[in-house]
Amino acid sequence: MADNFRYHMAEPDIGSHERTYMNEAFDSGWISSKGLFISRFEEAFAKFAGTKYSVSCSNGTTALHLAVRALGIGDGDEVIVPDLTFASPANAVLYEKGKPVLADIDRKYWCIDPERVRESITERTKAIIVVHLYGHPADMDQIKEIAREHGLKVIEDCAEAHGATYKGKMVGSIGDVGCFSFYGNKIITTGEGGMVITNDYDLAERIRILRDHGMLPSRRYWHEDVGYNYRMTNIQAAIGLAQLESIREKIEKRRWIAKKYSEYIDNVAELQPEMPWASNVYWLPTFILDSSFWEGPRDSVMSLLAKEGVESRPVFYPLNEMPPYVSEKAFPNSYYVSYHGLSLPVSSKFNEDDIRTISEIFNLLIRKVKQQ
Ligand SMILES: Cc1ncc(COP(=O)(O)O)c(C=O)c1O
Repeated sequence: MADNFRYHMAEPDIGSHERTYMNEAFDSGWISSKGLFISRFEEAFAKFAGTKYSVSCSNGTTALHLAVRALGIGDGDEVIVPDLTFASPANAVLYEKGKPVLADIDRKYWCIDPERVRESITERTKAIIVVHLYGHPADMDQIKEIAREHGLKVIEDCAEAHGATYKGKMVGSIGDVGCFSFYGNKIITTGEGGMVITNDYDLAERIRILRDHGMLPSRRYWHEDVGYNYRMTNIQAAIGLAQLESIREKIEKRRWIAKKYSEYIDNVAELQPEMPWASNVYWLPTFILDSSFWEGPRDSVMSLLAKEGVESRPVFYPLNEMPPYVSEKAFPNSYYVSYHGLSLPVSSKFNEDDIRTISEIFNLLIRKVKQQ
């Protein structure tokens, strides 16, 4: 990689197995979005996630857009979205001229707060998008109960939470539809790519048609709807299938890394917690610094880490602060996590010495900035 980092944020864990499958796809000549690896990857992913249907697509954002569109969310419909997230779920609603209604997070586990969801419901509300942030599941029982009471759909954004579980159930299989990203820094990757999973046959069919220009599979070149080309290629699916075959090891390694960081890092920084009902996959090991580290000092720690060859990353900005998503409501928890939070490197290659080294540098720099 063209930078001076000794420890990168989240390098992909790809190797000879991925190359073998990728070459097989290449040699077959099926390099676009037809080919055996597409169906093999979709079937294997549905099996892994525990749903009946799985539709591959071009990235996590198109997965969310397909879900929103297929659920019939449109002009003026309100969809409740957490204030602390990467922007894709809010954008997916805006693509359909819907209105993302932001709700604060629960400060304990950083996902959307069911109480704030309840307060946000109006007669225009159609759906809730939960984001399983940094690998920690949202409180799905409470969200589903609210959705049931008000007749709302639930979309799970699992871009950061492949294989995380809520009360033993895989995220993505609990709501009406689950959306995944396979961007290069995700737990499993296809370079760019995404997946939509559901147990609803009709919904899966609508998503499949919309992904493929709105054409009917049973009638070639007949457009039933205005769709998109949001397809994944066979080459990407080959990489994805190889990745999926070792997903459990990848998750275990991330959980081990998070545990080791929390052992070695002083108590000035607290790892994202894991609620008793959750299994956090720690997509990025993310820490909250103590309250003296508001944005400025937090960013100083990050620049000093970079000078020591350790890449780090701030938590997302609260959506409501940015022009497309402005909201008048207060989001104290989202602000707190956003401006005190920082993620440290994670890699399948890390051993205990790597974690100890990064942690020691981090502890030292925290103390240094605190004294300034
Ligand atoms: C929570 C969340 N949702 C959606 C996405 C979008 O995924 P993609 O970059 O594959 O479009 C991301 C991306 O990284 C994400 O973190």
